[in-house]
Amino acid sequence: SVPKFPFPSNEPEMDFGAGTQAAQQLAATLSQREIVDIPAVIGGKRIYSDVVDEVCAPHDHQRVIARIHRPSEAQVGEAIANSLSVARDWANLPFASRATILHRAADIVASRLRIKINAATMLGQSKTIDQAEPDSACELIDFLRFNAYNAQRIYAEQPLSVPTAANRADWRPLEGFVYAVSPFNFTAIGANLTTAPALMGNVVLWKPSEKSALANFIFYEALEEAGLPAGVINFVPGNPEITTRAALSSPHMAGIHFTGSSAVFQSLWRHVGTHIESYRSMPRLVGETGGKDFVLAHPSADVDALSIALIRGAFEYQGQKCSAASRAYIPASLWPRVRAQLQERLSVLTVGDVADPKTFMGAVISKASFDKLDRRLAEAREDSQVTIIAGGKTWSEPGYFVAPTVLEVSNPRHALMQDELFGPVLTIFVYDDNAWTDTLRLIDETSPYALTGSIFCNDRFALHAAEDALANAAGNLYINDKPTGAMIGQQPFGGMRGSGTNDKAGSWMNLMRWTSPRVIKETY
Ligand code: SER
Repeated sequence: SVPKFPFPSNEPEMDFGAGTQAAQQLAATLSQREIVDIPAVIGGKRIYSDVVDEVCAPHDHQRVIARIHRPSEAQVGEAIANSLSVARDWANLPFASRATILHRAADIVASRLRIKINAATMLGQSKTIDQAEPDSACELIDFLRFNAYNAQRIYAEQPLSVPTAANRADWRPLEGFVYAVSPFNFTAIGANLTTAPALMGNVVLWKPSEKSALANFIFYEALEEAGLPAGVINFVPGNPEITTRAALSSPHMAGIHFTGSSAVFQSLWRHVGTHIESYRSMPRLVGETGGKDFVLAHPSADVDALSIALIRGAFEYQGQKCSAASRAYIPASLWPRVRAQLQERLSVLTVGDVADPKTFMGAVISKASFDKLDRRLAEAREDSQVTIIAGGKTWSEPGYFVAPTVLEVSNPRHALMQDELFGPVLTIFVYDDNAWTDTLRLIDETSPYALTGSIFCNDRFALHAAEDALANAAGNLYINDKPTGAMIGQQPFGGMRGSGTNDKAGSWMNLMRWTSPRVIKETY
């Protein structure tokens, strides 16, 4: 019988509280000093190389945790050829068989790999467990299960047949391979960028970020164990330029599934556009990119809820989420209370080793990120338009640490209100209580990105005006909540403008990009 995929529930978080067995197992895993060799995997074969990149824990940068074996450009080419050789068999496998393999991978992560993949995410990406568990376990599992459910709905969709003719949609994958480029900040995203196209019958070349390669490779091994045929997803960590060159120079590159910076996605798009005649099919370009996400408070806002949302939205995972709150607009009447609450709450938050359960924030991801934030904060200290409300300090031993920082600017068009910093820096503009409408216009005008946004407001009329004025300023809008932490199945995720193609990760809208249906009419 053909398996059916019922509407899933979100995977519940495991309790890692003090004294639990899970906490003990996690601590034991984190303390292992193993250095993991991460090969490329091409057609089921592990490829080790003489050229390796060492990966260090960002909060302890002397600690090497993995060695990535870089494939050569020729080997990436072989990975593409290998995938293409299995493409037809994979596409012709019934959908239910493909989905069953991916469900099995979800179950393997849920039941056996949870602690290992969480520990890898904590070490490689400097996440605390309360951030790693929802990302590298729950969301990853949710992506696989919800995608199977949603794909099933797509495959059930058929055109109208009439007595003289049967019409049929044949939901083919794209012809060629999909290039998946995944970011460091969410282990789950790598799982989705690869398995969503694979679920729809595509073969995939996967280039993970080197910072998340350790956690991503654990998931890759779960896919293998679940029975994913060799070559359907080939794993090529290593040098992004080499891999991208090999991928984009292939005439069979049929799509890009990308999460990362707007600049890199734009450069991929530019290359594809410039070489469009070289591709057999016009590639589908799906990208979820940057953000400069706003929190807007109305004078009617609940100040306690607002300040907690600002802290969680801006500083969880060191603000390294495309969805992070990074600019806020607070009415003058509320500002003294909001400022006091931010200062009080931030003064007790700890920054340090993510293995310590008391740590609220780990390190920023790399020296490059640290140097950029350090420079921007040094500039802020010298800038007469900027007042430091909290934090502002950085220190680079034993890891790349940046204190949770709140800045106030007198000029709402200041670069700090528009540039994505991808770190724990929240910039605030205090507006006149009577300037609600002007502030809405200002937010929209100064939004080069349009990913997430939050409005704290208990006045229906004001809220209605805000929803309307900010219609194009955020793909995911939150009312009286922080702008981070979209749940699969509940808030399909993605943004507009410089934030990407808004194909809503975790929903049928994304899956639709990975199918190229053929419609067949049979006349009687
Ligand atoms: N989905 C994440 C969030 O909502 C960002 O990728 O925070």
